[in-house]
Amino acid sequence: MERTFIMIKPDGVERKLVGEIIGRIEKKGFNITRAKLFQPSRELVEEHYIEHREKPFFEEIVDYITRGPVMAMEVEGESAIEVMRQMIGSTDPKKALPGTIRGDLAYSLTENIIHGSDSKESAERELKLWFG
Ligand code: CDP
Ligand code: MG
Repeated sequence: MERTFIMIKPDGVERKLVGEIIGRIEKKGFNITRAKLFQPSRELVEEHYIEHREKPFFEEIVDYITRGPVMAMEVEGESAIEVMRQMIGSTDPKKALPGTIRGDLAYSLTENIIHGSDSKESAERELKLWFG
């Protein structure tokens, strides 16, 4: 069993896609083992996206993720990290395949509705950061 960090971003919550996204995760057979809906601080989001701190879009994504509540989740299942990344789809929703969460439900590169950890190391780091 593997655990990954999944976050429905503020646009996903604003657009009332929480049920749709959780439904897909549950139907796949994964367990949601921890979850919290809250508006994250800038400090938390800056730490979360630390790998992107030198990128031109860093300030924009911190503003975006802190503008309202997010649904932060721990998702558990076999190969959950890789399988969730496949279910989420490409970073740019215009390139994400139909059938993926971003391919079906998003259209903006920045506002792509969901985050999923990209490796075991990221999952461990992000779960600790968001849930302690
Ligand atoms: O989320 P993912 O791991 O697929 O992509 P990332 O490369 O780690 O980028 C993190 C987030 O920054 C993306 O999910 C987008 O919300 C945003 N982003 C952006 O606004 N503009 C880019 N050129 C790349 C990413
Ligand atoms: Mg990433």
